[in-house]
Amino acid sequence: MCYTYNDFLSSATGDLCLGASGEGAAFSGREMGEEYKYLQRCLMEQYIVRGGNPLVGEVEISGAKNAALGILAAAIMTDDTVRIENMPDVRDTNVLLEAMESIGVVVNRVDRHTVETNSAHIGEVSVDYEYIKKIRASYYLIGALLGKYKEAEVPLPGGCNIGSRPIDLHLKGFRALGASVTIRNGFIIAKAEHLHGSRIYLDTVSVGATINIMMAASMAEGYTVIENCAREPHVVDVANFLNSMGANIRGAGTDVIRIRGVAKLHHTDYSIIPDQIEAGTFMFAAAATKGDVMVKNIIPKHLEATSAKLMEIGCEVEEFDSAVRVVASKRLTSTNVKTSPYPGYPTDMQPQICVALSLAQGTSIVTESIFENRFKYMDELARMGAVARVEGNTAIITGVDRLMGARICAPDLRAGAALVIAALAAEGITTIDDIVYIQRGYEKFDEKLRSLGAEIELVHDDKEARKFRFRVG
Ligand code: EPZ
Repeated sequence: MCYTYNDFLSSATGDLCLGASGEGAAFSGREMGEEYKYLQRCLMEQYIVRGGNPLVGEVEISGAKNAALGILAAAIMTDDTVRIENMPDVRDTNVLLEAMESIGVVVNRVDRHTVETNSAHIGEVSVDYEYIKKIRASYYLIGALLGKYKEAEVPLPGGCNIGSRPIDLHLKGFRALGASVTIRNGFIIAKAEHLHGSRIYLDTVSVGATINIMMAASMAEGYTVIENCAREPHVVDVANFLNSMGANIRGAGTDVIRIRGVAKLHHTDYSIIPDQIEAGTFMFAAAATKGDVMVKNIIPKHLEATSAKLMEIGCEVEEFDSAVRVVASKRLTSTNVKTSPYPGYPTDMQPQICVALSLAQGTSIVTESIFENRFKYMDELARMGAVARVEGNTAIITGVDRLMGARICAPDLRAGAALVIAALAAEGITTIDDIVYIQRGYEKFDEKLRSLGAEIELVHDDKEARKFRFRVG
């Protein structure tokens, strides 16, 4: 299914789909004109791929998007200037920087991957709906604003293409710290005379709730214990960032985080960890195309579950200090996968392994235990010849000898990247629509793939598509 203008408007660049609720009506004629032109460009952009080339060579991984989003929000908690390096240049981080500027943060883009922020003169604790619609992670501003100013007003994020995405645990944590939290006219309004330490148990392991509550608690008075925390590398990175600003956070990376609140946070100069999901995506691209790829600028420990699965399906995986090499010299073999919170197999790598398994010898069973709607892309994959059946949160995949090129749509960020992998492995030409989703989390994706020998172009219109077809023959 490809999206109409209205569908797309409500989730222009985010994983947040508010549904085609006539969002277009919200814009005035002029705005509608500008917005429409912008979105038309988004709608028109496509990847066009001629598959069949094994990916060979080296690729550098960018900074972790999901760490950057938490770190950018946390940066507003000091009045000093903060310098952040190894920022990924992707749509989500750029939109969050715009949201920060909209409340008065001074943002200085030192270079493509380095930003300095100063939040001494934030004039507004209310974040505009425009931003939360584009990326749900704008909700990290609640924890940061509440921690620093003891008040925050942020639009309630909706569901998105991969599930309902509730934030009840975030709100539970804020309330436990002493904030009154109300929902009015689609906004979350959080206020506190002062925040105090508390003991908070997260009923579900949640990355967002762990990060959001950790931020608010870092400037609460007293001692907070958060239990059943998420242990993802990006949670640890946000905690390390806060500690580099003078916070007192212990235990990040385990399921219990202990925080002693401080009154003030100060300047820091910090470099973001590499993106293990981007790295894993390239590792599976090597696997699916029978390639030989050295993925550089990574932390191999963050990829243990991914590397283990790649070896299970027949790849050679060689680890170095800050790189990993994936070689797939023979046909992949089937396996079973169950996604789970870190250090388990990541849900953000579920579409990628399913694409590889669609070409493997044998039948595989993949269970998605984190989100309730993360197999939508299977319909698109089936159009390329994959054989898979989805029953509830489980996909049964019977490997085929080959996939065939087709015109398909990216339904969300990670599935979109996985469909590009399918296109790279398929015979013939594949055109992928709605790639704005992919651009949310992958920097220079087509450029990096071309450097590995892929025949892929980002095209803006039929003329450019025809030129590509003519060139690749
Ligand atoms: C983060 O989303 C990531 N996004 C997601 O990556 C990732 O898939 C997810 O963590 C799981 O690892 C960012 O970091 C910006 P959760 P988040 O809270 O924090 C339930 C990508 O591809 N839950 O860990 O929203 C929830 O429904 C994106 O970059 C509640 O019930 O995920 C889900 O079933 C896609 N109540 C489970 O917890 C809550 O209050 C895990 O969600 C919060 C979450």
